[in-house]
Amino acid sequence: MPRQASYGPVAAFYDTYVQADFDVEFFCSRVSCCTGSVLELMAGTGRLSRTLFECNPDLTCVDVSQEMLRVLSGKFVGHRRAPALVCADVRTLPLRGGYELAIIPFNSFAELTSVEEQRQSLMELNRVVVGGGRVICTLHNPEVRRGSLDGQERLLGRYPLGQGRELELLVTGSLDPDAGLARSRQVFRVYDSEGELVDEHLQELRFVLILEESFAELAAHTGFEVVELLGDYNGAPYARETSPFMIWTLEKVRGITGG
Ligand SMILES: C[S@@+](CC[C@H](N)C(=O)[O-])C[C@H]1O[C@@H](n2cnc3c(N)ncnc32)[C@H](O)[C@@H]1O
Repeated sequence: MPRQASYGPVAAFYDTYVQADFDVEFFCSRVSCCTGSVLELMAGTGRLSRTLFECNPDLTCVDVSQEMLRVLSGKFVGHRRAPALVCADVRTLPLRGGYELAIIPFNSFAELTSVEEQRQSLMELNRVVVGGGRVICTLHNPEVRRGSLDGQERLLGRYPLGQGRELELLVTGSLDPDAGLARSRQVFRVYDSEGELVDEHLQELRFVLILEESFAELAAHTGFEVVELLGDYNGAPYARETSPFMIWTLEKVRGITGG
């Protein structure tokens, strides 16, 4: 199996530089409507999980990175109840099934960079979701996302880390247009209160820009029907030229057996 990019070295910083909340209300409304078990895949440090758990306590969070899950579990220290945490790869889920809703937030599915990995993951989802159950899979809109994959280094931000220390994050995105494969080179620098560089870490992420037709075909082949395609978390329908995202809602129509 191809190795996944490791978030381990940046797990301690993740919540500092990822403060996005544009999708929280959307996922809360979907999870609140669900009366059965919910599966959050590629959950990371639980940017969404704490709020999702308030909406539906029958929540299982999966991530391949133990370090990211450790940060997630820290958010429930002192709480009487917490979501079930499973350290696993989405391509081989050690779960029995029975989930009514599975979600893959923050375009994370795009980190499965081959069609085979994507197919395996959707097959696993088909196995663990109940008949008529739903999967919400979020993706970049290739038309819009490719605009920032221009090889230019950008300062994503400077973030206070406490005790006068500061985190600086520089990102360079580039695209191999033929393969649709994007690379994001992220440089993390930590400065002390005197402005001296005390730590530096380089993270290379790979992700793919998946075309609308390709994902629709993959969903159909893995036993799902598309019930909704939104272009943004405010509920706007998908528009190929302008939408920031593709937010797919799939419904399981048949069980898939074998590979
Ligand atoms: C961009 S982060 C998103 C984290 C979180 N969902 C959020 O919204 O902030 C992607 C996450 O996917 C996880 N991941 C990547 N490949 C994976 C795989 N094959 N199976 C399970 N988790 C994976 C990473 O460890 C990381 O935590």
